[in-house]
Amino acid sequence: MTNATVQGVADLGDPHIYQTTDRYRMWEKLVAEDRAVWSAPETSPGGFWSIFSHQACSELLAPNAPFTSEYGMMIGFDRDHPDKAGGRMLVVSEGSRHNQLRRLIAPFLSRTSAQSLSAFMHQEVTEILRRLRTDGSSIKSTATGQDIASHVGSRLPAAVVCELLGIPASDRDLVVGLTNHAFGGKEPAFADMEPSEAHTQILSYFVDVIVRRRAAPGDDLVTALLADGSLKDSEILINCDNVLIGGNETTRHAVTGCFHALAENPEILPALRAEPALISAAVEEILRWASPAMHVLRVSTRPTVVAGQEIDEGVAVVAWLPAANRDPGVFPSPSELRLDRHPNRHLAFGHGLHHCLGAALARAELTALLEALANTLDSVDLLAEPQWMSVNQVQGYRALPVVLHWR
Ligand code: HEM
Repeated sequence: MTNATVQGVADLGDPHIYQTTDRYRMWEKLVAEDRAVWSAPETSPGGFWSIFSHQACSELLAPNAPFTSEYGMMIGFDRDHPDKAGGRMLVVSEGSRHNQLRRLIAPFLSRTSAQSLSAFMHQEVTEILRRLRTDGSSIKSTATGQDIASHVGSRLPAAVVCELLGIPASDRDLVVGLTNHAFGGKEPAFADMEPSEAHTQILSYFVDVIVRRRAAPGDDLVTALLADGSLKDSEILINCDNVLIGGNETTRHAVTGCFHALAENPEILPALRAEPALISAAVEEILRWASPAMHVLRVSTRPTVVAGQEIDEGVAVVAWLPAANRDPGVFPSPSELRLDRHPNRHLAFGHGLHHCLGAALARAELTALLEALANTLDSVDLLAEPQWMSVNQVQGYRALPVVLHWR
């Protein structure tokens, strides 16, 4: 099997191929073929297999599948080049360690937590929309419209994650700026700081937070991780990093995706206004359609078969979630955004034991946003096609220039 068969693409980890919507045509073909595709060592030092269909991706991530996250869960890591956080950070740990970390962190990201943060989220959304409407100085507002991606997308997720971690509002822009850089790859907007440097700065910020929480405990996640008593400071740091990045870097593109979805589907806003009960269906459908998490990686723990391909033990396999979320065998007319789609078994939050722990929070954020938009906005006009980030971890908006027509 050679990767040259994929429309001349040498390496499916190459971030540049995700910069245009040609990716949908590539994924459509690969889902239809439902086979595994090999990418030789390049973005990944050891190479990796890719799979695309809903069934193949679900099987890879299923609880008893012979795969592990402990070597890393993104392209670039494999058995011979493991993520140093493996076995110590929630998303890249397995077994009893994973259970322990999930038990400690879950109460802060649970449905109950999302409900208790509901008033806070509504308040934040109201403020974001007020600024969008009136404050041309904090939001880029010119004849070319307003760019949702760079000025709106990250605000709500950042506010929520900072609240969970006990980060004061005055530090939010600093922390969000650092996570943007940590996840921005070679994106020109973030060229002033290398991702590794941004990570170092995030960790050193949390060193200070730990010192402060030790002296004066709060009711936040850092205090809870300290109170457990079994985690080293370095483990507390990387798990804060996990929640910070997990909570910001996907949700901000889902927030921007809401505006994009409303622009492309003008019938949605009136429908949500007429029948607010449709908002939860809209949230699920936008998550499926926008699929902000682009891939997850696993390494095989024994010889096995993926998408009909035999693989040895210790081999990296990547599930492309937006491809699976447009698998026509599971989602008829997959590129259409349909509020009556039922069931909607999308994989936007992954699947299995590592299913997103922040799913309830993300859903609550998008619900608060759509509720407010349904009440205040008549329509969204796209001023130009969205620009996409040149990264392979997220299906991310670089720019979404719009004109908003308020009620
Ligand atoms: C895990 C996507 C929002 C925290 C995951 C995974 C995906 C995902 C695909 C699975 C990773 C894997 O299997 O290796 C998303 C999307 C979001 C979102 C699309 C928004 C639309 C959030 C939020 C938080 C969060 C708001 C926290 C505030 C986490 C954590 C994990 C995780 C801690 C690791 C769970 C585990 O390994 O047991 N997310 N996420 N995520 N997410 Fe999210």
